Amino acid sequence: MKNLNPPEDIVGIGPAVRLGTAASRIDGPLKVCGAAEYPGDFRLPDLAYAVLVRSPMARGTISAIDDGITRALPGVLDVLTHANVGNQVRHVAHVMAGGWANSTHRPLSSPDVHYGGQIVALVVGETLDAAAFGAQQLSISYETLTAQSSLEFPDVTSIPLSQIREGFEDRRAGDIDLGFRLAAATIRQVYSTPVQHHNPIELPTTTCVWDGNSLTVYEPTRFVGAARAGLAAQLGLDPANVRVVARFIGGHFGSKLALSQHTALCALAAKRVNRPVHLSVSRHDAYTIANHRTETRHHIGLGASNDGRLTALSHVAEVATSRFDDFAMEGTDVSAALYACPNIYAEERVARVDRNTPGPMRAPPEVPYLFALESALDELAHSLSIDPVDLRRRNDTLVDPVTGHPFTTRPLMRCFEQGAAAFGWEKRSAMPRSMLRGGWWVGYGCAAAVRPVKISPVVVRLTIDVDGGALIETAHHEIGNGLYTLLAMTVSDRLGIPLDRIAVRLGDTDLPPAGISGGSSTTTSLVNALSQACERIGKHGIARSVEVEFVPEGAGGDAIEQLRAGHMKLASPPVGKLSWAYGAHFIALRVDAATGEVRIDRHVGAFAAGRILNPMTARSQLLGGMIWGQSSALFEKTEIDPRTGAYLNDDLAEYLVPTFADIGRLEAIIVEDEDALVNAEGVKGLGEIGIIGVNAAVANAVFNATGRRVRDLPIRLEALL
Ligand code: MOS
Repeated sequence: MKNLNPPEDIVGIGPAVRLGTAASRIDGPLKVCGAAEYPGDFRLPDLAYAVLVRSPMARGTISAIDDGITRALPGVLDVLTHANVGNQVRHVAHVMAGGWANSTHRPLSSPDVHYGGQIVALVVGETLDAAAFGAQQLSISYETLTAQSSLEFPDVTSIPLSQIREGFEDRRAGDIDLGFRLAAATIRQVYSTPVQHHNPIELPTTTCVWDGNSLTVYEPTRFVGAARAGLAAQLGLDPANVRVVARFIGGHFGSKLALSQHTALCALAAKRVNRPVHLSVSRHDAYTIANHRTETRHHIGLGASNDGRLTALSHVAEVATSRFDDFAMEGTDVSAALYACPNIYAEERVARVDRNTPGPMRAPPEVPYLFALESALDELAHSLSIDPVDLRRRNDTLVDPVTGHPFTTRPLMRCFEQGAAAFGWEKRSAMPRSMLRGGWWVGYGCAAAVRPVKISPVVVRLTIDVDGGALIETAHHEIGNGLYTLLAMTVSDRLGIPLDRIAVRLGDTDLPPAGISGGSSTTTSLVNALSQACERIGKHGIARSVEVEFVPEGAGGDAIEQLRAGHMKLASPPVGKLSWAYGAHFIALRVDAATGEVRIDRHVGAFAAGRILNPMTARSQLLGGMIWGQSSALFEKTEIDPRTGAYLNDDLAEYLVPTFADIGRLEAIIVEDEDALVNAEGVKGLGEIGIIGVNAAVANAVFNATGRRVRDLPIRLEALL
């Protein structure tokens, strides 16, 4: 079985290119022709199919499962429940807590139910239909308990993160009470953002194949190394006997995090029926077996002198997490470092709720945290009658206001200036509800986007064959971001090799180890690593192979050992400095004076994120982020049923996302940002900066249009009537 799918090369197209020039994706033709093999595409001989059965409510116990009818059905091969799985899947720690799992809850380990949508059974059939019908015929009774499934539920309270996470410290500076006493204007408001789900088109399927004691898994995980190590630990295998393959991933946006809960169950099923098993995951399933963006609440206090300079900034944030993990992506390290202010109070709080462990979603902390801060700043600008761009200029800083550490570069105001010029910000009327055009209130709004740069250790192998062709190998992942293309471009640029002589292999634990696809770190890490490999191999490196172990500053001396064990380490060099990517969003929208309908007409984003390696894919990343930001402002919210604690709108029919007609004119501007300190290649990453701050820019524009300040996302009609 092991040789059934050897690593596949993606070969470049065309002549040599330079980094910094626009280049089409080398895997584009394969994708367009349907020839790119996604993990869910493998149809192996003798394949059996599994489907999940999930709990309809969030808290309780299974009192009985009757699988008699199901087992007697033709084509049903097996039924896995807590009665026959139990402790066969061992505990492994969370990927953000030194382990590999995206949730430490182990489905089928006991009859207890801890969240709506928890896996309570897995049915295996000869065909997908047999498995699905078998699952339908399974009779399960529950004893149901009252669930507290969201921060919005009445009895849910938060506690300081510092109480549950060892070593966590909140950011504080000066004397916050004094700061408010000195203020001429004060804003104190509460802002909230909802639960959201990623919904990549590719579902998180898995296919497990045993060959004796060796296991091969085809799954779109964005960290094959963690999936391998975690599965080995869960199933008591030698990691060398587990292979995980994901050559293409159909989007993750923050989901598909490391090792998922359903993978070990599929592997167990394959062992039991002694056949390869493909677990078919429905869109409904994906809402609870994949992670999600958790809901947040922000208590923001701003104090400022008459000239707009901040005297006090307090940000107390509450987020929800599961009962069993302390996952929280705290964001006051950014919100309480963005502007100059002598008196700062930040507090991160978490509430435990009856839901599966949340996870990252594109710019996990910055999207909710900057919604709050950048909305509050707009409120302050209005109360002081200062232009919002000007207010940000008056509070711009070259150093972290808490630690005093300098920023490596600080082009934030250049983003605002170039964005404002392209947008025509000077045409804005500062007075809310003053622009009525044909039955629509017109409004303009802006907000900042910032995000710390991250970089991770990685091992890359570069081989030049006797004919001068190149092969690049690493276990990193193509998630649609253009990694195959970027790696081929890098070798072409450095060694002058035509693209069509360069092949790239990714997404397989048989390749040199790489970290997680996330944190906007991929391009930054891989281009720096591969550049070192090119340098080592030199211009005349015919018939040579080098393997570079790239360890960024601050990643630790054992970084490569950790990487080989499936652990990630995102570092933020240079140590003692802050290196961020920046952006500014400008939104023009109109609100129907009669119905409250919001239409975004124009959106200009200006971004400074170090050196741009491929302006074509860079622009796509930025536009994608901007569109999703609009969606996060106006559309997306996962509703939780107060009776059951389960998700209500868990599919693409009920979960609102924008269509083409909902998105106005978009313009992404690249602002120069030469950063000689951030890393050797001066790259910062663009994966997430595009989405950050859009929600606040939209809410600020809605206020400018209507005089209505909406502090809870998404902004829907009912808030504007
Ligand atoms: Mo992030 S949403 O983990 O790239």
